[in-house]
Amino acid sequence: MNLSVDLNDIKEAQKVLKDVIRKTPLSFAQSEALRQKKIYLKQENFQLTGSFKIRGALNRLSRLSESEKRKGVVAASAGNHAQGVAYSAKKYGISSHIVMPVSAPLIKVERTKSMGAKVTLAGAYFDQAYQRATEIGKEEGRVFIHPYQDPLVIAGQGTIGLEILADLPDVQNVIVPIGGGGLIGGIASALKLSAPHIKIYGVVTEQTPGMMELKKGLELSQRSAISTIADGIAVKNPSKEMFKNFIDPFVDDIVTVSEEDIAQAIVHLLEYEKSVVEGSGAAGLAAILNGKLSDKIDGQGSTCVLLCGGNIDLNTVSSVIDTGLRKQGRLTRISTIVDDLPGLLADVTSVFAKSRANILDVHHDRVSSELKVRETRIDFLLETVNSEHVKALQEELEQKGVRVLREDEK
Ligand SMILES: Cc1ncc(COP(=O)(O)O)c(C=O)c1O
Repeated sequence: MNLSVDLNDIKEAQKVLKDVIRKTPLSFAQSEALRQKKIYLKQENFQLTGSFKIRGALNRLSRLSESEKRKGVVAASAGNHAQGVAYSAKKYGISSHIVMPVSAPLIKVERTKSMGAKVTLAGAYFDQAYQRATEIGKEEGRVFIHPYQDPLVIAGQGTIGLEILADLPDVQNVIVPIGGGGLIGGIASALKLSAPHIKIYGVVTEQTPGMMELKKGLELSQRSAISTIADGIAVKNPSKEMFKNFIDPFVDDIVTVSEEDIAQAIVHLLEYEKSVVEGSGAAGLAAILNGKLSDKIDGQGSTCVLLCGGNIDLNTVSSVIDTGLRKQGRLTRISTIVDDLPGLLADVTSVFAKSRANILDVHHDRVSSELKVRETRIDFLLETVNSEHVKALQEELEQKGVRVLREDEK
């Protein structure tokens, strides 16, 4: 299949989408740290269906022939393409069958069903769901709607590039998370074909680094199990076709982020932008907050970071917030060993009180085998200001003769 996409394809897609999708905001970031770096956010988390995926899906389904429409469609998706396809199929009166991995967030499964699609859960990861969807396509005679390796899907995602350019004409850098590569492929095509000086940077997770490895000419790492909050970009096997057509020619560099980096970005977006963004959607900002692109973008003009989706289960948000706060040094566990003498606990807590660290939880242990006679282990869960605050607390405790356990001793 010829995958290449030109500007005209993307402009045609724009006409198809115009009266259906939302025009999402592109705004200057709120936090001072990001403002100094001239960071702008393109908020596709506010898009219809909760992510950009409707753009590619609607464009693809709009071009089905009448006989293809009667056959119906099948798709494999971690959850956002599912909703894009289900929404578009409903709009055009087409039957849809979607296969999602069993690990897909509940919110994505439920929303897809509520848009009238039949949902089958199969396989632990996207790659296995994909396999099952191609089988269903053959069994049921449905048209397979690829989530990224399809020029009409890529052209649909590319419309984001045109919007970025229209809203921020002097943009110098654009940062886009990569799963299969359709999103960055479309955006990079739109931008490099209109304004080749714009730099495009991709972001993958440490657990699914395939495209980064291809880009840097490294051997592809083999991973059996993945557990990530960025389910939308958790594609284990990068497509060589997508690499050859888009990533290699158009993407300037690719960096990786950790789960903690992503959690921190989600917390940042909740706190400063008042925005709910899912793990994959926050990966671009995670790279910025952790300095992964500083050498490329600092002092190099305006940078647009794509927030590509907002479909996160609310019941996972609280644990993500805890991880994000821990990463920022705002939720801290300090474990101490003290002599079991009257007044010592008060001494320790007075250190916390004096510097306004709020104690959320305390746990005493007098019986562990690691303890000597008359020693007590006390674990504190604290609300703190940042990592410097935590360090200062630990030093003050040590000055008072309290043994503070290191991370690896906890
Ligand atoms: C929120 C979100 N961001 C990014 C991506 C990556 O898109 P692509 O697979 O086209 O690279 C996805 C894919 O599902 C997604 O859902």
